[in-house]
Amino acid sequence: MSNPELAIKKKSTPLYKESRKLFIESYGCQMNFSDSEIVASILAKEGYGMTEDYKDADLVLLNTCSIREKAEATVRKRLETFNLLKKEKPSLKVGVLGCMAERLKEKFLEEEKVVDLVVGPDAYKDLPNLVKEVDEGRNAINILLSKEETYGDIAPVRLGQNKVSAFVTIMRGCDNMCTFCVVPFTRGRERSRDPKSILKEVRDLFEKGYKEVTLLGQNVDSYLWYGGGLKKNYKKATELQKKTAIDFSKLLELVALEVPDMRIRFSTSNPQDMIESVVHTMAKYPNICKYIHLPVQSGSDRILKKMNRLHTRQEYFNLIDTIRKHIPDCGISHDMITGFPTETEEDHQQTMALMEYVKYDFGFMFAYSDRPGTYAHRKIEDDIPLETKKRRLSEIISLQQKHSAYRTKQYVGKTVCVLIEKESKKSNLFWSGRTTQNTVVVFPKENYSIGDFVDVVIENCTTATLIGKGTNLSKSL
Ligand code: SAH
Ligand code: F3S
Repeated sequence: MSNPELAIKKKSTPLYKESRKLFIESYGCQMNFSDSEIVASILAKEGYGMTEDYKDADLVLLNTCSIREKAEATVRKRLETFNLLKKEKPSLKVGVLGCMAERLKEKFLEEEKVVDLVVGPDAYKDLPNLVKEVDEGRNAINILLSKEETYGDIAPVRLGQNKVSAFVTIMRGCDNMCTFCVVPFTRGRERSRDPKSILKEVRDLFEKGYKEVTLLGQNVDSYLWYGGGLKKNYKKATELQKKTAIDFSKLLELVALEVPDMRIRFSTSNPQDMIESVVHTMAKYPNICKYIHLPVQSGSDRILKKMNRLHTRQEYFNLIDTIRKHIPDCGISHDMITGFPTETEEDHQQTMALMEYVKYDFGFMFAYSDRPGTYAHRKIEDDIPLETKKRRLSEIISLQQKHSAYRTKQYVGKTVCVLIEKESKKSNLFWSGRTTQNTVVVFPKENYSIGDFVDVVIENCTTATLIGKGTNLSKSL
């Protein structure tokens, strides 16, 4: 009989020594950063070790974003650097991953001669084959979108600089079809990951010493596990599958119970899919962070409709009221788009009024960018002059700054629990971390360490940051 211990040992010995070097750069959303960790894991098995210096690399991969024109322009500009490097080092291979790969397909190989490899977000498991093709001197491409792929069976190589917080993907794709958005085209249809593999990954992180996990999905509230497959096929699920299905609020609860000493965050929520039970689960478990990123995009009912956002301004207010009722100290942030086609001054004022009502802790604000292939691009003329978009954008940014300042001021004099993540960028004598509401706090290092939960009394603030002094290690999260 074979010795099982020996078999295990043999299995865990790497097939190759780390003979080649991989440099990955990620752009855009958190999911891209998380996907790059999956890619690193897949290629580690092929003998690729990571390097932080692209000049050392044998293979450079850019995990790209298509959400706005500017995001794509940034990647194209970056490719020039690798084009130059390739002249010095002809053996260098360059690949593009992610949403630009999916959107541009073969065109990428034609337009950017420096690119050898184009791989869409559901095709990373094919990378070993694709890289071999490239090694043999051919360009390689796989942009197939999947009905199943969630990479649930891959243990990501953690690339983040701190060993405190990590991302765990729970669902992929988006079925919402907001008229301005390329994500449904580049990321495919919604499918959820087996909760067992999510719980296992979260537990592993806890055992490795991580203190915080962010559950990721393009539309987390749409999470639904009924045994696998596309969310839209749930209608055809068996009675038993329907009875035992797990939705986002249930998953959140399972994760909270699995790792009670870890902080749990999630992103991103779409107001139209957020159900009240999620708010109750958040209120019930102290380790679920009191913070919701709740993009609204516009405060005008007319524009929301044109964006195919399936809720009204009033329904959004009701949701905000429900959150504040059950979690009075909840941090809330937003995404907003200015200058969506046909947006009038009146629509813009409605957006400002909505912001005034909510007084968000912070927000991400963008000028509308017309994206090829989207409904808005095909059917609605991009008729708002750039100057107007920019002016409206700067107005909402100023308003947000006022609200952020209002929010941070509320904390002065109070004691908050902070999870230390890293050294402050401004001073190596200070730590930087976040509150449960996701507000950044800096305070003197003293004897505290990265990964500690510390009670910090807030003495001062800027619009985005709280400044304080640690009093003791915290007993809460
Ligand atoms: N649900 C997604 C949203 C992705 S897009 C998630 O996982 O975060 C992030 C934000 O980019 C959107 O909320 C929207 O505010 C902005 N955005 C998307 N398409 C855009 C476009 N065409 N022009 C400008 N901003 C856009
Ligand atoms: Fe995009 Fe709307 Fe989905 S913003 S990611 S289509 S929820």
